[in-house]
Amino acid sequence: MIKIGIIGAGGISQVAHIPNLQKIEGVKVEAICDINKEKLNYVADKFNIPKKFTNWEELIEENLDAVVICSPNAYHAIQSIKAMESGKHVLCEKPICLTVEEAYQIFDTVEKTKKIFMGAFPRRFLGETIILKKLVDDGFFGEIYYLKASYLRRRGIPGLGTWFTNKKLAGGGPMMDIGVHMIDMVLYIAGLTEPKIVYGATFEKFKDKAIDGGWPPVDTRKGDKPTGKMEVEDLSCGFVKFKNGEVLFVEASWAGNSETGLKGSIFGTKAGAQLPDPLDSKNPVRIYTETNGVLSDIIPEVPKIDVYFEEIKHFVECIKEGKDPITKKEEIISVVKIIEGIYKSAENNEPVIY
Ligand SMILES: NC(=O)c1ccc[n+]([C@@H]2O[C@H](COP(=O)([O-])OP(=O)(O)OC[C@H]3O[C@@H](n4cnc5c(N)ncnc54)[C@H](O)[C@@H]3O)[C@@H](O)[C@H]2O)c1
Repeated sequence: MIKIGIIGAGGISQVAHIPNLQKIEGVKVEAICDINKEKLNYVADKFNIPKKFTNWEELIEENLDAVVICSPNAYHAIQSIKAMESGKHVLCEKPICLTVEEAYQIFDTVEKTKKIFMGAFPRRFLGETIILKKLVDDGFFGEIYYLKASYLRRRGIPGLGTWFTNKKLAGGGPMMDIGVHMIDMVLYIAGLTEPKIVYGATFEKFKDKAIDGGWPPVDTRKGDKPTGKMEVEDLSCGFVKFKNGEVLFVEASWAGNSETGLKGSIFGTKAGAQLPDPLDSKNPVRIYTETNGVLSDIIPEVPKIDVYFEEIKHFVECIKEGKDPITKKEEIISVVKIIEGIYKSAENNEPVIY
C-alpha cells in the first residue's frame, strides 16, 4: 500500500488530487494538513482520511511514502525540501517555487535524498500535447524557432483577497498562476530549455474593479476568510530569447478587456501548430504544413484524456517502478527562470540575462 499525505485541503486537492488518488488501487490517502481547521475537518470527513494535522511539519514526520503539496505557492519549496529530507516522494503543485534559487535548492535535495520530485503540470497529459510532442520529437516540425503562449481571462481573479492575491504568499499574479501552465506546455512540446534573455512587463489596472473569478470552487472554500485585497498584477507579458536564438512570447491575465481562453503556437521550418483551448471542441488543434508544394492543414484526432487522473497515475507509477517523472530538472528550472525573469524585468525596467 502506498501511503500519501496531502498538504493543503483546498480547491485543487478536493477537485483533483484526493478523488483521483482514491481511484487507484494500492494507494491510500492517509493524512491531510490545512491551517484552516474548519476546512481540514470537512475534507477529512468527506474523503474519509484518518489523520489530520494543522501543522505540515508534523504531517511529514508520519509514516508516509509520498506527499502531495497543494498549499499556497510560497510554501512549495520549503515543504518539498523538508518532505524529501524526511524520506517522502513529492508531487508539488505549480508554480514549483517562487525563485530560481529555490528551484536549485529543490533539485539539490532530490540529488541528496534520491526521492522522486514531480511538478503538477496536468496539461502535459492532454491528447494535444502528447501528439504534438511526438511529432516534434520525430522531426516533423523541423527547426522550431518561435513560440507563443497565452492564457487570458476577462474577469477571473482566483480567490480574490485570499493568498492568491497576496504578494508574499502567491509570489505574483496571473503569470505565476496560469501563465506557468502555458509556458511549461509549449516549452515541453518544443523541447526548449535554457532561456538567456527575459524582458517583461506587468500591469495593475483592475485593482479597484476586481471580480472574484470562481476558483477555487465555492464549495471548497469552507472557513476561508478573504480580505478583499489585491496586491499582485492583473496582466503580465514576457519576451524570452533562448540559447540558440529561439523566441517565446507569453501573456497571462486574470482581468482585461480581451478575448478569454488559452492558446499556444509553435513555428517550425517544416510545420507549425496552433494550440487552441483544449476545452473548445469547435476549435481543434491545427497543424500548418506543406505537402508536395501545397500549403495544407492537418487536424489530428485527439484522444480525450482525464488529465488530473493521468497526472496522479504517472506519479504513483514513478513511485512503484522507480521511474523518473515526466517533469525534468532543466525543464522546471527553465520555467522558473522565465517567470522570475518577467517579474524582475518588469520591476527594474531592464532585461534579465541568464
Ligand atoms: N494544476 C492545476 O491545474 C491547479 C489548479 C488550481 C490550483 N493549483 C495550485 O494548487 C495550489 C493550491 O491552490 P488551490 O486552488 O487549491 O487553493 P486553495 O486556497 O483552495 O487551497 C489552499 C489551501 O492551503 C491552505 N494553507 C495555507 N497555508 C498553509 C500551510 N502553511 N500549510 C498547510 N495548508 C495551508 C489554505 O488554508 C487552503 O485551504 C496552488 O499552488 C495553486 O497554484 C493548481
